[in-house]
Amino acid sequence: MKLTLRVWRQRNADADGAMSTYEVDGISADMSFLEMLDTLNEELILDGEDPVAFDHDCREGICGACSLVINGDAHGPERTTTCQLHMRAFKDGDTIDVEPWRASAFPVVKDLVVDRSAFDRIIQAGGYISAPTGAAPEAHATPVPKPDADSAFEHAECIGCGACVAACPNGSAMLFTSAKVNHLNVLPQGAPERETRVLDMVGQMDAEGFGGCTLTGECATACPKGIPLPSIAAMNKEWLRATRKARKVGR
Ligand code: FES
Repeated sequence: MKLTLRVWRQRNADADGAMSTYEVDGISADMSFLEMLDTLNEELILDGEDPVAFDHDCREGICGACSLVINGDAHGPERTTTCQLHMRAFKDGDTIDVEPWRASAFPVVKDLVVDRSAFDRIIQAGGYISAPTGAAPEAHATPVPKPDADSAFEHAECIGCGACVAACPNGSAMLFTSAKVNHLNVLPQGAPERETRVLDMVGQMDAEGFGGCTLTGECATACPKGIPLPSIAAMNKEWLRATRKARKVGR
C-alpha cells in the first residue's frame, strides 16, 4: 500500500505544532499501525530527519501506552488499541491523519507523545487496598459473590490508555476513574477505603483539570477494553454515599 500521512509534529511542550505530510510506500496490510509508523521513522532517519515521537511499550494491547487519534478517532477506526490496529483497516492511496490525544490535562510532550501522569496521580490518591503483609490468606476465607467478582474483573480491564479522555468532548476522565474506583469498591478487600477512595480519587481527578461528564457516551464507545458507561453511574452512587457518610461524621 502507498499512503499519505498527515502527522502532528511538535518539537516540545512549549513549541507550536502543525501537521506535516509524508508519503509511505510498501506498507503491508498485515503490519500494525505502529509498524507502519516504524517504517516512516526508518525513512526519516535515513533522510537525516527527526523521527516521529510516539508512545508504545507492550504492543500487545495490555499496557495502554500507545495513544493516537487516527482520522479523528481515539485508537482509529476499530475498537482496539493503536498497537492492535492493522493496516488492513485502510486502503491503498488513503490519507491518514495522526494526532496526539487532545485534552488539556494531557499536555503534549513531543509530536504524538502526551503526558498522562495525571492518571498516575488519580491512582495514587486511592487506587489501592490496605493489604496486611504475611502469608497469602486461604482462598475461600473471604467469599466474593460471583456478580461482584465479575464486576471487579470487568472494571479491572481498564489499561489506562486515556482513549476515554481523548474521545470525550469535555476531556472528562470519569470512565477511567470509575473503572479504578469500582474494581476495588465492589470487593470486600476494598471495603476499608471504600469512602475515602472515591472521594480522594474524584477530588484528584477534578484537581488535574479534567472536564465534567455530560454523559455523551463517547468514552465508552472508544474504550478498547469495553468499560461500560454505567460504570460512571456506579461511581456517582459511591460518591454520594461517601459524601453523605462524611457529612454525618462531620468530616
Ligand atoms: S503498546 Fe501496550 S497497549 Fe499498545
